[in-house]
Amino acid sequence: MHIRVKLRPFSIDDAGQIAVLCANPESRNWFPADVRPADLDTARTYVKRAIDDRDSQRCAAFAIETLAASQLIGEIRLCLRDAKLAYWLGLPFRGNHYMVDALELVARHARDELRLEFLYADVIRENIASRRTLEKADFRFQAIFTDDTARAWRHVALLRYKRML
Ligand SMILES: CC(C)(COP(=O)(O)OP(=O)(O)OC[C@H]1O[C@@H](n2cnc3c(N)ncnc32)[C@H](O)[C@@H]1OP(=O)(O)O)[C@@H](O)C(=O)NCCC(=O)NCCS
Repeated sequence: MHIRVKLRPFSIDDAGQIAVLCANPESRNWFPADVRPADLDTARTYVKRAIDDRDSQRCAAFAIETLAASQLIGEIRLCLRDAKLAYWLGLPFRGNHYMVDALELVARHARDELRLEFLYADVIRENIASRRTLEKADFRFQAIFTDDTARAWRHVALLRYKRML
């Protein structure tokens, strides 16, 4: 597999590019309501939280960078408590299957460094791009469910995908 991206920890200097990538309101829909990076200040808060989460070993949040241009294009985040993934790409960088590459790298890291046995992600049924991405990255459909404890996703059908490592 020819990998075109690399993963690295966030630094506070990434806030500018995060603000640019999230300038379009569609991009911000995918963030938790309390940490939507809408401008430079909120992008700084977002990046600081990602760094804190990593330091306290809650989540491994990785900036995704293209190898060709060393440009920050999105994020992939692994919750260490339960091996759950979340991810996004800035709008201008979608349509190139970059996230398949990022998922492969995070899977290798989870297997080789963290000794995890599986990874999973929950996807809204209508999110075809994310479902296709997970399938391409060797995740398998497990179950459909609704999570009525999660206020944001109440009554929404979620599909769980899992990859054994
Ligand atoms: C999910 C996401 C990371 C995928 O980005 P990507 O790697 O650029 O993926 P692509 O845009 O290349 O799309 C993957 C596939 O879905 C297809 N697709 C994309 N949008 C689609 C749509 N609206 N309807 C149907 N198919 C669609 C593409 O044609 C492509 O198909 P292919 O594999 O047959 O070529 C990106 O769409 C994104 O950041 N979305 C917003 C955040 C998000 O959804 N996060 C995941 C939450 S679970």
